[in-house]
Formats: sequence, structure tokens, C-alpha cells
Amino acid sequence: MFPSMRVIVFASQKGGSGKTTLSGHIAVEAERQGAGPVALIDTDPQGSLAKWWNVRKDPTPAFIQSVFSNLFYDLDTARDEGFRLVVIDTPPAVTRAISEVVSFADIVVAPTRPSPHDLRAVAPTVDIAEARGKPLVFVVNGATQNARITSEAAIALSQHGTVAPTTVHHRVDFAASMIDGRTVMEIDPFCKSALEITALWEYLYDRLQRADGAYRGGADGIDAMAQANKRVFGRRAVS
Ligand SMILES: Nc1ncnc2c1ncn2[C@@H]1O[C@H](COP(=O)(O)OP(=O)(O)OP(=O)(O)O)[C@@H](O)[C@H]1O
Ligand SMILES: [Mg+2]
Repeated sequence: MFPSMRVIVFASQKGGSGKTTLSGHIAVEAERQGAGPVALIDTDPQGSLAKWWNVRKDPTPAFIQSVFSNLFYDLDTARDEGFRLVVIDTPPAVTRAISEVVSFADIVVAPTRPSPHDLRAVAPTVDIAEARGKPLVFVVNGATQNARITSEAAIALSQHGTVAPTTVHHRVDFAASMIDGRTVMEIDPFCKSALEITALWEYLYDRLQRADGAYRGGADGIDAMAQANKRVFGRRAVS
């Protein structure tokens, strides 16, 4: 369990890269692995994560109804209510509002498909994370087994920052499981897709353990944390 509330922000300018899929899966996995209570926030006007949660039977992870302008207060309330992790999904854009969401992050996760279009679109997300002094992790998502472009994508991404050691492959169960508000782990916790999510969570958990708590409330707290994050997370696979 984290000593204080942690915030993961899923962000990438590219539409369809897997932000919503991985937000839901990582939140559920974190709860399953005992890092909760976990809450989800959907800042995307498309509301895909909210719709998924609405058809979900299990009330955990919790869902916090929020909007960009209230995020500061809603995170404060979440911390007061004892949440240990908040996972925030964002729309596919690069705007000032998304940059502000990133300012609350302990870690920013950018799912990226191994395609030239996705790879060309990473720069603005990197810029936002850097401007806010936040650690950024790329996750290669939707990869095809044994395809050369997957390793090439990881190498290309490593020029921009840290790449998660776990690749999430393209499998229909990611989409299928979410139809009725579940995740691949809740269909079969030992299927290949579930094992990838478990491995990805373990990696993120380890990174978050070493952060010393970004969300303290107040602009000073955020700035102080940005500095702390730089200290803790300042590593790059290739700089
Ligand atoms: N690893 C995967 N394997 C198979 N399908 C996937 C995978 N990841 C995502 N998808 C599917 O790809 C589509 C886009 O994924 P998702 O909605 O998570 O992306 P997004 O980044 O949130 O999109 P947007 O930018 O529009 O919000 C969805 O239909 C989802 O089910
Ligand atoms: Mg989405």
C-alpha cells in the first residue's frame, strides 16, 4: 500500500492508443493486488471509461465524477476519503487542460501503438510531461506477436523516454471483456492478456512506491512534488 495517495494519468495525443483500456485495467489490477482503495476519473468528454464503469457490477474501483476545473478539489476529497490510488483517463488531445491534469500526476503513462503514426505523435505528450516535471512511461500497446515493428517501436520510443518493460499485445479479449464492464483479469486471471496487465501493474507499482507522494494539495505542494519527481524519476532509458 502507498503511504499517501498516488495519481496515475494516462495521456497521449493519439486517439485509440489504449488510454481508456489500460486505465480501466490498471485500476482493477491495482485493486486486485491490494494497492487500493482505487478510484477512477474520466476527464474525456467521450466518457468511454465512465460508460464502462456504469455497466460494471463490481463497485471497485470507485468512480469519481469530476471535470477538469474541479480536479484539484476532487483529488483533495479522494485523499481525505482514504483513496490510495487515483487513475485518470484523458482525451486524445494536447491542451492546457490536459497539461493541468498532468500536473497532478505521480506518473504519466502514454500508451503507444507500434505504428509510424503513433510514434510521430508522441512529442507533444513528452513536452507536457517535461514542462510539468513529471515522469513519463511509454507502454507499447496493441502489438502483434513477434512483429519486428514492435521492437523497433520500443527502440524509437526509448529515444524520447522510459519504455515499460511489458508490451501489451493486441488481443480481442481486451475489447470483449470491457463490453460488460469487466477486464481480462476478471474473465481469466491467468490468460496471456491478464498476465501482461499484472506485469505492467507491478512495474508501475514499483515506480510509484519510489515516488514520495505528488498530490499534497496546493500549488506549492505540486511544485515541490515536481522537484521530488525529477529526483526520483529523472532516469531515461536513452537520453
Ligand atoms: N491491447 C489491445 N488489444 C486489442 N484491442 C485493444 C487493445 N487496446 C485497446 N484496444 C481497443 O482499441 C480501441 C481503442 O482503445 P481505447 O479506447 O482504450 O483507446 P483510447 O486511447 O482511450 O482512445 P481515445 O483516444 O479515443 O480516447 C478500443 O476498441 C479498444 O477495445
Ligand atoms: Mg479513451
